Amino acid sequence: MTTITPTPTVGVSIPRVEGPDKVKGQARYAYEQPVDRPTYLYPLQAPITAGRLAAVDATEALAQPGVLTVFTHQNAPRLVSTEDAELAILQSDEIAFRGQFVGGVVADSPEAARHAAALVRLDCTEGAHDTEFRPDHPHLYAPDHVNPWFDTDTDQGDTQTALASAHVTLDATYTTPREINNPLEPHATIAIWTDDELMLYEATQGVNWVQQTLAALFGLDPQQVRVICPHTGGGFGSKGPHSNVVLAAMAAKLVTPRPVKLALTRQQMFALVGFRTPTVQHIRLGANPQGRLTAISHDVIEETAKIKEFAEQTAVCTRTMYACPNRHTAHRLVPLDVQPPTFMRAPGETPGMFALESAMDEMASACGIDPVEFRIRNEPDLDPETGLPYSSRNLVACLREGAHRFGWQDRAPDPRARREGGWLVGSGVAASTFPVVRLPGSSATIQVTPGGRHVVRIAAVDIGTGTWTALRQIAADALKVPFDEVDLRMGDTALPQASVEGGSSGITSWGSAIVAAAVALRERLMSEHDGVLPEGGLEVTAEDPGNPYTQHYSMHSFGAQFADVRVHEVTGEIRVPRLLGIFAAGRIINPATARSQLIGGMTWGLSMALHEDAFRDPRFGHVVNQDFAEYHISTNADVPAIEVDWVDEDDPYVNPMGSKGIGELGIVGTAAAIANAAYHATGIRVRDLPITLDKFLS
Ligand code: MOS
Repeated sequence: MTTITPTPTVGVSIPRVEGPDKVKGQARYAYEQPVDRPTYLYPLQAPITAGRLAAVDATEALAQPGVLTVFTHQNAPRLVSTEDAELAILQSDEIAFRGQFVGGVVADSPEAARHAAALVRLDCTEGAHDTEFRPDHPHLYAPDHVNPWFDTDTDQGDTQTALASAHVTLDATYTTPREINNPLEPHATIAIWTDDELMLYEATQGVNWVQQTLAALFGLDPQQVRVICPHTGGGFGSKGPHSNVVLAAMAAKLVTPRPVKLALTRQQMFALVGFRTPTVQHIRLGANPQGRLTAISHDVIEETAKIKEFAEQTAVCTRTMYACPNRHTAHRLVPLDVQPPTFMRAPGETPGMFALESAMDEMASACGIDPVEFRIRNEPDLDPETGLPYSSRNLVACLREGAHRFGWQDRAPDPRARREGGWLVGSGVAASTFPVVRLPGSSATIQVTPGGRHVVRIAAVDIGTGTWTALRQIAADALKVPFDEVDLRMGDTALPQASVEGGSSGITSWGSAIVAAAVALRERLMSEHDGVLPEGGLEVTAEDPGNPYTQHYSMHSFGAQFADVRVHEVTGEIRVPRLLGIFAAGRIINPATARSQLIGGMTWGLSMALHEDAFRDPRFGHVVNQDFAEYHISTNADVPAIEVDWVDEDDPYVNPMGSKGIGELGIVGTAAAIANAAYHATGIRVRDLPITLDKFLS
């Protein structure tokens, strides 16, 4: 081991280590892994929304050259666990939503599989279905909890009475549309069975998650399932185990030992891998003459699938954002004959903070207070929900720094005050927040080789965020060795177990395990070997010990988002020439990759503000605009100069690195900042996303 402590690498913008391979096309994603004699799977999807698959005629399909098998519930492998109705496909003739997998065709080429799939005749008996999201739905219900384990409803003080006696009140309803997880890389699998072992190359946010899920479904020991994923082309929350990997594993079982390859088409992505629920959010605020909130009420209605509940935690952000003695939050669900919704791009905070931060802007206006100042005035000393101190909370610093850099002091307080050519010009602000999540169960092994290399092993995955680089930086500093002396192995269940890349928890969870292993290694070297590396090298494994401060501090990241917006007076066209985000997210491990993530998050937010809207036709139960021609996302021409920076934040409680997750923080608040700026430009308050041009024309 080196005796001179090298310069720390955490905090340095080391270029992402896998970048050159990605640019050259040499970084292998799931579908690109080389396998012998691959076969190709094309799915059969339910052509009705609810009912039964009465009869299947595969005669013509099976007669096609290159076709190996056609399978449906009639001949599919039986699953041992059918608890998860989304994953337990092909176990009966029941159809639960349009587009659900009802079978598959395996052939020697993707073309042959797809052609034959079109020739399979599916005769269905159609039942009654209900796919229309209505806030007055008769079967509206309260779930037991909201994602992942938050209380469904909360009440503090007496919100009704406080609202009735408030000096200034606001009562408004905001809506956000259905949005679809659309990472650049589609969901993709290569599945291979040999005897009783299943091998998967899978595009995923968690190799152990896939391993455990598939083992349970097929009645295997987790050791019998190996999952490999060196690179994932974006997750968006949807790259957990969905039915596509189950279908691929079933197909591979039928053609054992040949590998089966399945990549979903973009249209299949709209039907099968989850989505964000639309929301209807009723917000009521009360304030005293000093502009301090006296009541906050946030009621949310959203949809879920009849076959599997997912309750987005939309109002949870409202429990912690602002000081207020009387507070009410509640979630209700409409159960429909649709595919299950899932995690997506800061679930909860993203739609919830659109509503809350729009309402805060409206309330600031109603109180005659600048919206930056209004938020500062309602800053809590302690977490209002738990009464705990924050491990660190620098929203005010973000607001002040952002206002300074944005030139906020020059802004006219009144809306519709500025015209340039035919454009109405305005600016807006909104706050951002995201919890610090640490998922249990990650371990890391560190081996010092006789040659002096430090090899770090952990089954973490990099979904495009820079994990390959950041974890090496963390390991190098914890081991007190140079970055270049560290080797990292990830993305394989043969490595020590790692938690899921979700909830922006990766660096916190995996970094904590790596630091624990590094500390253990250095201690062992000192106590057992007098600091001299033994001839055969040394290896230590440690588990993330968990955070002893969790019960004592409330842990969140914060940010302030600023937007310039131009709305054309005649056409209503809306443009966003400038976004600025200032964040407080603890210690930044790698400024270059962190900046990329935050810009990416704000681009998601811009996309949500202006474009994304998945329209489900209640007559047929499917998303009609199921491709990028009609489901619009922000493209280069839409994305303005996005500036990102952060304030220094020293947090000794969150984890050994002092870092907070940044993968999702950037999207939160962006849409509200844009909506608030659009109001400032035009005097028209758009409470229903996306902010399309028709909403400015009357
Ligand atoms: Mo993220 S939506 O928690 O993968």
